Amino acid sequence: MRKVITYGTYDLLHYGHIRLLERAKALGDYLIVGVTADDFDKTRGKINVRQSLEERIFAVMETGLADKIIIEEYEGQKIDDIKRYNIDIFTVGSDWEGVFDYLEEYCKVVYLPRTQGISSTKIRSAESTLRMGLVGYSAFLNKFYRESKYVNSVDVVGLCSTDLQKMEYLKDNLEFATDDYDELLEQVDSVYLHSHPAKHFDECRRALLRGKHVLCESPVAMSKEACDNLLNLAKANGCILMEAIRTAYITAYSRMLLLLKSGRIGNIVSVDATCTSLSNFNSIDYRKRWGSLESWGPTALLPVFQVLGMEYVSKHIFTVRDEFIPEYDLFTKIDFTYPQASASIKVGTGVKSEGELVISGTQGYVYVPAPWWKTDYFELRYENPANNKRYFYQVDGEGIRYELVALANAVRNGKSDYYISSEITREIANIMHDFSEERDQNR
Ligand code: CTP
Repeated sequence: MRKVITYGTYDLLHYGHIRLLERAKALGDYLIVGVTADDFDKTRGKINVRQSLEERIFAVMETGLADKIIIEEYEGQKIDDIKRYNIDIFTVGSDWEGVFDYLEEYCKVVYLPRTQGISSTKIRSAESTLRMGLVGYSAFLNKFYRESKYVNSVDVVGLCSTDLQKMEYLKDNLEFATDDYDELLEQVDSVYLHSHPAKHFDECRRALLRGKHVLCESPVAMSKEACDNLLNLAKANGCILMEAIRTAYITAYSRMLLLLKSGRIGNIVSVDATCTSLSNFNSIDYRKRWGSLESWGPTALLPVFQVLGMEYVSKHIFTVRDEFIPEYDLFTKIDFTYPQASASIKVGTGVKSEGELVISGTQGYVYVPAPWWKTDYFELRYENPANNKRYFYQVDGEGIRYELVALANAVRNGKSDYYISSEITREIANIMHDFSEERDQNR
């Protein structure tokens, strides 16, 4: 019996896939189809895949062409599979010509001509694409624009900035640039807000009133009430309002949360998160400066609220203010007391510290090394080091591209709180409010 094996993602199964499977089957008597796992696709840069692994396997199964379906989960697996299943022929489409010649050591390699004019990418991009406008002034927007190129359901087309003269790169690359926010809103269906936190509420509100989806740097508002106002507006107008805390969309971070929920370190009794970055204040116009809590608070609060919830009994805020501009905090520490746990966040743009995350439980702890907020790696550590476990998940582009994919999915599904719940968005706004009102605080 001649055994044939082929691999693919098979997203939104199309006739190019079916023709490939038919010809692969005809090469032998028994066809094994390897369908790529979601994580494996992500590490190969395929982040736009629409269907889940289960859906893709089911679609291949329904063709009736595969005698066996396996999941491709890791680099180098093809050699293992060829040996394990005694494969005679490995085949893929001609878009891979030459790439798998190294498998000739183990079996025959056949490249089948690819069917012209169809691909999963083409089907995905035929679906509606979000036209997005950028708002703000920082150089981060250049990076954001470059990252958006990896996401085929989002098309960044315009910029609104008060500093247009400094935004040459974006002006050269986008369809239009303006300093008039209403003009931007007229020409897009979504905005990414990277302006000063004091402007977020007004900019979110104006976008939502016009039925535009919003991805907004956190905090989206500076009080619970203002936040509710925005969330209600989004709901009433059928819009997505999503908080841009990139960490939430990073695979390693979300996998770590799942491990914690499954009790891998026992009962959790403390969460300690530190985020700092020294800013060169002299080079930043003081009106555009973000305070430490504004810059880092939402990110540091994320694991606290996602792991321990928001039902804390009390909190205490300690802050060190800038000597000359006292509205800016150089460093802020917040301690939370829960009925059976405690948490602390330390954030600073005028103080430097080790940016790590430690979550302690009754059986062990999670250690995420600096900079934990863009992590690809974490460890579960136990009393007996032999039981320690290390986890690695590749992260590309600091999470920006995953965040954009999440926005596009949220718009498609009409649901935005898969990664960050609206309760967390509200509580972050509440903390900002208490901080500005100097509640629970001594300097
Ligand atoms: N394939 C083909 N003809 C096409 C598209 C795909 O023969 N028009 C083949 C590929 O060469 C591969 C298999 O089908 O052997 C699975 O390809 P996959 O990467 O899942 O499909 P694409 O449509 O190429 O996906 P994408 O656009 O996301 O790259």
